Amino acid sequence: MSTTLSGTEMCVFDAYGTLFDFNSAVARHRDAIGPKADALAEMWRSKQIQYTWLRNGMAAYTKFWQVTGEALDHCLAAHGIADPSVRDKLMNAYLSLDAFAEVPAMLDRLQKAGLRLAILSNGNPEMLDAAVSAAGLAARFEAVLSVEDVGVYKPDSRVYRLVEARSGVKPAKVCFLSSNCWDAHGAAHFGFRTVWVNRAGAPDDNLPGKPVAQLRDLSELPALLGVA
Ligand code: LAC
Repeated sequence: MSTTLSGTEMCVFDAYGTLFDFNSAVARHRDAIGPKADALAEMWRSKQIQYTWLRNGMAAYTKFWQVTGEALDHCLAAHGIADPSVRDKLMNAYLSLDAFAEVPAMLDRLQKAGLRLAILSNGNPEMLDAAVSAAGLAARFEAVLSVEDVGVYKPDSRVYRLVEARSGVKPAKVCFLSSNCWDAHGAAHFGFRTVWVNRAGAPDDNLPGKPVAQLRDLSELPALLGVA
């Protein structure tokens, strides 16, 4: 079957929100956090990403692990949660987030079809390796690429360039998958064939770059790629 993604050589996945459910950290410790758990989860993710963009603007890169902790500290203060054990629990949970349910079988199908598979993430290698191993996904990926190598966060084009630099695959032969709409636009603007994994059913962002397709989750990716 021929599709708009025919000829794809490599699938490159964003990590947090796309393969791994960052909300699973808060979900596991809902009782310790109390009634503000959902508000905390939403604000934590939002601040974490805002801090990456702000640090890009300030040319002040530091590891995503630190950014994640600094964002959490702000959010705990904003919600009046002072128990230090909550911070420890949430940060530890970030090292073993749940993979979304459809991820292992979907990766197997792509791998069996001969596609090359990699991760490209804001995460620093230590936290990415921990999450990939904890989810049992290490054997599925030929590379786990981190922004750490360029010292700047997505959507800076230096990040997306890492894929060709490491794999030799041209951007036009890469299918990039992200559940973060701004990342999907950034990657499409750079030159990847990009699929927005719109898990939340959100409206599109008005940004440069146009994803070639939208999926509700990754289970439909093999069919979109024309993989049996
Ligand atoms: C990542 C963030 C953007 O994994 O989810 O790069």
